[in-house]
Amino acid sequence: MSAELVASLQEEVRTLARAREAVILAHNYQLPEVQDVADFVGDSLGLSREAARAEGRAIVFCGVHFMAETAKILSPEKTVLIPDLAAGCSLADSIDADQLRAWKAKHPGAVVVSYVNTSAAVKAESDYCCTSGNVRAVIESIPAEKEILFLPDLYLGLWAERVSGRRLQLWLGECHVHAGIRPQDVDRVLAEAPDAELLVHPECGCASQAMAFAGEHAHILSTEGMLTFAQQSEQKRFKVATEIGILHRLHKELPDKSFEPVNGEAVCRFMKMITLEKLRDSLRDWRYEVTVDREIAARARTAIERMVATG
Ligand code: 13P
Ligand code: SF4
Repeated sequence: MSAELVASLQEEVRTLARAREAVILAHNYQLPEVQDVADFVGDSLGLSREAARAEGRAIVFCGVHFMAETAKILSPEKTVLIPDLAAGCSLADSIDADQLRAWKAKHPGAVVVSYVNTSAAVKAESDYCCTSGNVRAVIESIPAEKEILFLPDLYLGLWAERVSGRRLQLWLGECHVHAGIRPQDVDRVLAEAPDAELLVHPECGCASQAMAFAGEHAHILSTEGMLTFAQQSEQKRFKVATEIGILHRLHKELPDKSFEPVNGEAVCRFMKMITLEKLRDSLRDWRYEVTVDREIAARARTAIERMVATG
């Protein structure tokens, strides 16, 4: 798309958003031109907090479906729109409410901690939600004698075990994008750039390996945590292990530092379904509205509010 077309679509989006009294929220993995037109860009935790305090009549969520559902639960009086209803999440799809109920039945009395990458129906069966930004704080807020069922991401769960020192029951789900960033990618990066700092998202398949030397040159962080870390670091060169959408924000906010992907193929096709044209159409045609069953929303709200309030 030409720069002129991008600029004119962005202008159209801004005009429509003003007229519609809509706030545009975008995840760090969104396309650069979508991030650039948003009112707020952030990680799952930051976006949930923005959704809870957003003003206006509507939220247009440029992200995936579970994020828009979470926004609707936190801001039930607002219309929540997603520009493409097909923007799902393979990790969230790795467990449904029936599977969770069956797991809970085998562990009576256990506390359920669900990563935010889950459907509203799974959140409704959960005691706590967390994101990669506050998983440690959430686990540490639970009494030590309680058994914890942690779902759905295995790699995030392994990391949570390590930083909290707690033993967790782990669901064996994974994000195909992050799981595809393998230990051999890290070996290659360390060999070619031994001076670089390694920023690793805890959903990555290489996260367990990176944990072994975490703290020296490897740092396991949420997407927003990567930005904050790079802002505060004296270092100039960073290798980034997560979905490549975050690179736009890192380059834009820290132009004097260098950021390279550990695996340039790490692209979430669901996140990339949200285009500038679909965002424009969403605002113009007031679609696609995301709704959550009232009873499910009421049951999911406590777990989500605990997440928003923690860490
Ligand atoms: P965060 O932005 O919260 O780190 O989450 C990453 C992710 O995979 C969202 O789908
Ligand atoms: Fe889901 Fe993975 Fe895409 Fe994140 S990157 S939305 S976890 S499929």
